[in-house]
Amino acid sequence: MTARCLVVDDDVQVRHALARVVASHGLATLEASSGAEALALLQHEGEVPICISDIYMPEMDGVTFLREALRLYPDMAIIMLTGVAEVATAVECLQLGALDYISKPMLMEEVRARVDKALEKRDLVLQNRFYQQNLESRLRELDRKNKQSLINGVQMLVHALEAKDAYTSGHSTRVSRYAVKTAVQLGYTGEQLEQVRLGGELHDIGKIGTREDILNKPGPLSPEEFQHIKGHVSLGERILAPFLSESPIVLRIVRSHHERLDGGGFPDGLRGEDIPPEARIVAVVDAFDAMTTNRAYRPSRTPADAVEELRRCAGTHFYPPAVDAFLRAFSDVSALPISL
Ligand SMILES: [Fe+2]
Repeated sequence: MTARCLVVDDDVQVRHALARVVASHGLATLEASSGAEALALLQHEGEVPICISDIYMPEMDGVTFLREALRLYPDMAIIMLTGVAEVATAVECLQLGALDYISKPMLMEEVRARVDKALEKRDLVLQNRFYQQNLESRLRELDRKNKQSLINGVQMLVHALEAKDAYTSGHSTRVSRYAVKTAVQLGYTGEQLEQVRLGGELHDIGKIGTREDILNKPGPLSPEEFQHIKGHVSLGERILAPFLSESPIVLRIVRSHHERLDGGGFPDGLRGEDIPPEARIVAVVDAFDAMTTNRAYRPSRTPADAVEELRRCAGTHFYPPAVDAFLRAFSDVSALPISL
């Protein structure tokens, strides 16, 4: 079935022009000249995956329409059209849940690109929700004998998480590789090393339950938002515990990778040697990778700078032998961050 796009604008010429672009993109189009008409149309025709709406319209303006439409159809991808002077309103729309906005006068090429992006984003959101809702029941069905299949499934979740959180793309894999080489330096082998590998891969899996707007927030987090993010360690452990009862190291890494040597970490405020040793390793390499990759709220630091920071915080935040082992394992700083 052809996907449908709803175009809402009181200016008939703009509306037709948009409808043509969208149609040339292979989407069927519906048109409405006001928010009220658009809502009536949706009620009649059913939900559409994507909608482009003007902000200033008589009868019901775009902001009211946006609010109402998302209340009724939370999965609809809505792109707002704004005038040059309406940046504040555009930002308000994004906060209300619009996926994107296009400034007028618009370039048709841009409209095409934004529609593409919006559809892609919507697919990811739906995919993530599917994984989230089905994770526990799906994993429960798997037999313990099929451990490898289980691990494959969980790795798929890692990819789903990374698709949701663009700034940490590749993060889990890099953390896993750093952790393994560091653990080797500390004498880990065999099954224990395997658990460190898996723990690195899964350490942030609980972020599958973190709100996307907080994960990708460009500015500093409010105390409530930080509290929400902190929940990823215990949620991750809860998600994995029923299936990885024979891999306690993995669970300890997931729960305790944000603990600090001085007791200032979370979720348990553990100190020093009370922190599971494998979590102390992952804390170091997780911090290194976070520092050397771009995040929503800041650009990356150089590897040399990050190494300096690890050294500076050894003994307070990080376990010094783990920092030393990491630096022995990756002595050539110019080769970092590792490429995947
Ligand atoms: Fe984390």
